[in-house]
Parts: sequence; C-alpha cells; structure tokens
Amino acid sequence: MDGLDALKQGYLNRIAEAGDEAALEEIRLAALGKKGEISLKMRELGRMSPEERTAAGKVLNALKDEIDAALRAKKSALADAALDARLATEWLDVTLPGRPRRQGTIHPVSQVTEEVTAIFADMGFAVAEGPQIESDWMNFDALNIPPEHPARQEHDTFFMARAEGDNRPPHVLRTHTSPVQIRAMMAAGAPIRVIAPGRVYRMDMDQTHAPMFHQVEGLAIDRDISMAQLKWVLEEFCRAFFEVDEVELRFRASHFPFTDPSAEVALRCSWEGGQLKIGEGNSWMEILGSGMVHPKVLAAGGIDPAEWQGFAFGMGIDRLAMLKYGIPDLRAFFDSDLRWLRHYGFSALDVPSVAGGLSK
Ligand code: DAH
Repeated sequence: MDGLDALKQGYLNRIAEAGDEAALEEIRLAALGKKGEISLKMRELGRMSPEERTAAGKVLNALKDEIDAALRAKKSALADAALDARLATEWLDVTLPGRPRRQGTIHPVSQVTEEVTAIFADMGFAVAEGPQIESDWMNFDALNIPPEHPARQEHDTFFMARAEGDNRPPHVLRTHTSPVQIRAMMAAGAPIRVIAPGRVYRMDMDQTHAPMFHQVEGLAIDRDISMAQLKWVLEEFCRAFFEVDEVELRFRASHFPFTDPSAEVALRCSWEGGQLKIGEGNSWMEILGSGMVHPKVLAAGGIDPAEWQGFAFGMGIDRLAMLKYGIPDLRAFFDSDLRWLRHYGFSALDVPSVAGGLSK
C-alpha cells in the first residue's frame, strides 16, 4: 500500500490544527468513519493474497490506532483548554468582604422571638421546645382541662385523624404553648426556669387572628416563688422589649385552669394621634395571661406540689410584633408578600441582644 505515510501525516496535521470538538469529529469521520479513507483501505484487504493481507493489515491497524489515539489526545487537550478558559473568566475572590445587598430579611415573628429569647435568657431562662402535633393529654388534661371542661370549646381545636377503629382521643395541633410546661417539667424536674416560644393553632381568622400563630410560654419553679417575682419578671421583660425606661403593669384577677390564682396583665399605654406609646397615657392594653402554677399541673409534670411552687405566663408573639413595630394586620404576616417582607423585615446581620440592642 502506497502513500500511507503521507495520508497519516495529513491526518495528524489536521488533528493538530483542529480548533474544536466538531472539527475533530469531522476528521474522525473522514478517516475512520464507515466511508472514511482508512476504512475504505481496510476493505481492499479482501482482494489481497493472504501474505499481502497480513502485512498490509498490520500497517493499517497501526495507522488506525495512531489516528484514534491522536484524536483522543486532542479531544482531552481541547477540554482542558476550555476549562482553563472558564476558570479564567469565572473566578471568585472568596476573601472579599460581604456586600449587604439586603436580598433576604428576618421576618418580624423571628425577630421578636429572638428579642424575647434574648431578654429571658438574660434573666436565666432556658428555651424549651415541644411538638406542634400534641397529645390530647398534654394539650388539655395535664393542664387541668379535663374532657368536659368548657375551655376545650374555647380553644377551637384542630384534631388529627385517627385510624379507623382507634378510639383513643385524637392528637391535636397544639392550641397553646402551655403543654411545653408539662414536657419541660417531666424532662428537667424542679427547680426550672424556661420559656417556650413556638407555633400554635386555632380555627380562627380575621384581622387579628390567624389559624396558625405564635406564643411564648414562661415557667419558673422553685421552693419560694411568688407572684411578686412574676410581676418583677414581667415588668423587666416589658421594659426591655418595648425599649422604654418605665412601664406600668396592671394585674387583674382572671381564670385559667392551669394557674391559681390567675391574672391577666395589661400595660399602660396611650394611643394619642394613632401612635402607640408604652408607659404613659390612660389606656390599658392586655398583653398576657399568667398565674401561679396549679398544684395539679405540677403533679402532672411529676413535681411535688407540697415542695415546689412556681409561676407561668403565656403571650402572643405576633401581637407583640404588631404592637412594637406598628403592623396593623396579622394576616399579612403569613402572606409571603415580598414587598411587605422588605418593608417590615430586619437585617439578617443584626442579632438582637440585651447588651447590644434589640431592634437597633
Ligand atoms: N395558654 C393560655 C392561652 O393560650 C395563655 C396562658 C395563660 C398561659 C396563663 C399561661 C398562663 O402559662 O399562666 O390562652
């Protein structure tokens, strides 16, 4: 077979000059494709004598392998070059300082939860948690709300489905954070000081109610806890939370099954000119329920009421957020409207702390 060297050199040159994968593929087809030059030469082998065929076959196979290898090498060289080119243009200096483009913000509910947590942490309260799907016993019975108690109706409860034939009371979406009191007592015993912020659920919906909302529960148990300490803790909390020098709280007798005595607590405020001012004026705004933990509740939590006593309180986080940040409609909290979130959201880099400032 004549001219094979020239043919080989021709292909090797073309391969060396190929600028992209498409060009390489074109060369591969021209040389090794079904109707490629080398493939056609392979076919000629059939017309040769056996000796000639052996010799020519060897040469052709070697040629084929060489061109194939050259194609592969060039292909990977092209890929490397392409990657280098990308790396050269798409580099990123990870040592540069961050640019606060404010793309995302902290939701007011998260912000207020952080603020409340920081204030109570400063007073020695740990954070406790419980499940949002709660047993009927934890949500009601353990809190001294037996099955026939009228408070059960007032809670507008969402019930979970039970399997057919299962006659146990259905689980509920917790209607308040109070069951976390029971869980915390069971887990840690006395003495204990915890708050429990979290989601709660009730079938209710208007400008100030949503079917899912947020509460924070407080619980302090020790040997000599009294209402006086409850009052001090709540006053300190309100002063810190509303970021004012003076607050005045009004305690009025109330009724909750899980506390005795019970008190509803209101805050002195003024609404003059449509603007809320805390600590002055002649209006009172109710912000929470509280009281001394009922002996039955202590017992349900595994704590001996003869030895220990404590106070508890519960308040709405969303409501605190509306008051502090002047947000008029609760429903907007859960609409995920980006304009609302940008307007009322907080910078992710400002972590609330008592020492460093809560909202500023
Ligand atoms: N669980 C009550 C509610 O959802 C709020 C509450 C009132 C909690 C008094 C307490 C408390 O711990 O002592 O309406």
